[in-house]
Amino acid sequence: METILQRYHRLHPTSARLYQQASGLFPSGVTHDTRHYAPFTIYVDRAQGSSKWDVDGNEYVDYVMGHGSLLLGHARPEVVAAVQAQVAKGSHYGAGHRLELEWAALVRQLIPSAERVRYTSSGTEATMMALRLARAFTQKSKIIKFQEHFHGWHDYVVASAVSSAGALAPSGIPPAVVGTMVVLPPNDPAAVQQVLEEDRDVAGIILEPTGASMGVVPVYPSFLGALRELATRYGVVLIFDEVVTGFRTSTGGAQQRYGVIPDLTALAKILAGGLPGGAVAGRAEILHMIEFGDERWNATRRVPHPGTFNANPVSAAAGVAALTLVATGKENAQADAMAQRLRSGLNDMLERLGVPGCANGVASMCHLRLGRECGTRTGAGCDRTICQLPPADIRAGIAPQALSALKQGMLNHGVDLMGRGAIVSSAHTPGDIDHTVSAFEATVGEMLAEELLSRRGGGK
Ligand SMILES: Cc1ncc(COP(=O)(O)O)c(C=O)c1O
Repeated sequence: METILQRYHRLHPTSARLYQQASGLFPSGVTHDTRHYAPFTIYVDRAQGSSKWDVDGNEYVDYVMGHGSLLLGHARPEVVAAVQAQVAKGSHYGAGHRLELEWAALVRQLIPSAERVRYTSSGTEATMMALRLARAFTQKSKIIKFQEHFHGWHDYVVASAVSSAGALAPSGIPPAVVGTMVVLPPNDPAAVQQVLEEDRDVAGIILEPTGASMGVVPVYPSFLGALRELATRYGVVLIFDEVVTGFRTSTGGAQQRYGVIPDLTALAKILAGGLPGGAVAGRAEILHMIEFGDERWNATRRVPHPGTFNANPVSAAAGVAALTLVATGKENAQADAMAQRLRSGLNDMLERLGVPGCANGVASMCHLRLGRECGTRTGAGCDRTICQLPPADIRAGIAPQALSALKQGMLNHGVDLMGRGAIVSSAHTPGDIDHTVSAFEATVGEMLAEELLSRRGGGK
């Protein structure tokens, strides 16, 4: 019988050849850590809506969705038209332009905390700027972050971060820089309060507002409220990293969904409609730190902010087109409904096959835990949105080898997962979701046959 891996090799000969060439060009043959998986990444030729096609002609229902930047799916006609029109008019003016105003007006309309906006080119730059602003505003140095929360890859946020490619090592980062980050467990307001009480050098608190790894290890909404209260009481800047959750968890991000307003918000991904772009939005008096003033202010307190591609007209055009659609609310409603269909379909399938596990997540996110039961199997006391298990139990479950087989098996059956889950778009259809559940069922069956997974009670 052909194994999952053998089938993967058979279905992807051109990708295998390209990967071989790439291995002589790029470290590990890839251009982003999450594209590094065994035995090699697929090479994609084109994408439309919820689908993408690889160089071997295989079609996939895509759940990577531009690493979460494509709430509207691939090549949404309104976004394509806006980009085409703009690129023909020039891609960089080295000057202000109308679209940057329109874009910021949409950000202010949608994101509750956004009194002022400043653009960057990525989410990493946005969190870097947010931390710098918090330090400059408070004239303090340290930042509280939470275990496993991911905020990009600049020096400050690597401490204890986990991406879908695994834990980030602080290699190449001066220990003194790492030492300015105070890493705490999530969902423990007392631990935060103790640090704020004992250490008067804390400038800010940053977190992924739905939890580590896009919400895989959740933050409880009550914790957001507790952080808001503590940040206000101790005069520190509360920063929501809404690079993933912004415009996804609701049209106004996690802050709107949970009614907790941070001082600063880091944005990217959906913000720029699938093109490169980021922003920091927030309280006017904090963004004021970027404003030019007198000579003394400029030389001592002002936070400088250059950046060649800030608010570039092509990203702005895509952003305006995308956020105009987001503002209708219909895109989020459709993506959320499809994600709910996927979570239910997967949970029914796991139950039917007797395989321990659970699909959960808020809005259009779907996180899959396989190989580990939680005690609320029937759903009693659990609405399958925010997982209540301790973090270690959430991450535990199937072995890395089995995760690899899951990725390969799903690709063999025409589905590209993001990590061990799915980022759903408004372009996904009920047919896509049903196909995905069938692909899961087939893959789980193959994993059981290869003894990479066991049924409840240890059966095959
Ligand atoms: C929560 C979060 N913050 C920040 C980033 C970094 O954004 P970028 O990849 O645009 O630098 C990411 C990227 O996935 C993210 O998930």
